[in-house]
Amino acid sequence: MKFELNKVYSGDCIDVMKKFPEESIACCITDPPYNYEFIGHKWSDSEVKRRTERVQDSKTMVKNIPYGSGLAGGVRNARWYEKNRNNDLEYMRWCQLWTDELFRICKAGAPVAVFNSNRSIAHVQIALENSGFYTRDVLVYRRNSGIPRGLNLEGKLEKMENPDAEKWIGWHSAFRNEWEGIVLVQKPLENNYWETLQKTNVGVFKTVNQDGSFQSNILENLSKKDKSEKYSHCTVKPLTLIKKLVDTLCPLHEENIIFDPFAGSGTTLVAAQELGFNFVGVEIEENYIPIINERLKSSKLHKELNPSLF
Ligand SMILES: C[S@@+](CC[C@H](N)C(=O)[O-])C[C@H]1O[C@@H](n2cnc3c(N)ncnc32)[C@H](O)[C@@H]1O
Repeated sequence: MKFELNKVYSGDCIDVMKKFPEESIACCITDPPYNYEFIGHKWSDSEVKRRTERVQDSKTMVKNIPYGSGLAGGVRNARWYEKNRNNDLEYMRWCQLWTDELFRICKAGAPVAVFNSNRSIAHVQIALENSGFYTRDVLVYRRNSGIPRGLNLEGKLEKMENPDAEKWIGWHSAFRNEWEGIVLVQKPLENNYWETLQKTNVGVFKTVNQDGSFQSNILENLSKKDKSEKYSHCTVKPLTLIKKLVDTLCPLHEENIIFDPFAGSGTTLVAAQELGFNFVGVEIEENYIPIINERLKSSKLHKELNPSLF
């Protein structure tokens, strides 16, 4: 089967990756569904939209995260725990399906950076390790914003007209979430870094910033989303953040292909394109494919589809 670079494939990434050649991907930066309560791994665009609209006027919930995503409190009793635990195990099994395929198509030394929620990042990490990758780090993306999530006890008691409400001002069931984790794994090297780099053009990270400072594993002070990122997708990552990851994790080389199996609105693909890399993506939800193509077309450095194969 022939493959074109610099495009997004429509379909389930587990099936699409099966058709990709072995050891063809230099770097994967991806943001799979986070196993929030209803999204699970069976992402439903219409359900995401319905629930997101329901919380638009809420004063307590994070606006762009749909109601029911597991951030809105919920009952943490034994029954909830059992359901939640089974759901986590099922999520891990699903992760294993795509991490196995991803391992097969990555080149030796290829870095893989996967976003996930604070609650489920460990599940993805274990699936990646079980597939053969080894963990290099867990990077932190620091957002510098956010409000405490979950149950606001004072608000709840006030609604119940409980006279103790005031005593509980400031008590919540969760902290203000200021960071997101990105698990960073790598496919084993060919003997050592230098031999790997010579053979596959990947393996080491760029650790000195433009101002001469050393890049730490905390990514912060990156500009927020700009209006060009207002696409009809509820979980668009900031382009500056993804460009920083691409630039840090992968040396620029014509044979280095950046891959995103959960493309969403296409941020990783746009970042790769703007930095001059070849790329390929997969997205299961057909509604998002035109969004991705539009973003790629209107972004800087748009390349005509490259008919070369990989
Ligand atoms: C969290 S979003 C990614 C958002 C992206 N980072 C961005 O900036 O736009 C996850 C995406 O994965 C897609 N998805 C879910 N399951 C998939 C699968 N099995 N194969 C391919 N895409 C899938 C969803 O439709 C959703 O668009």
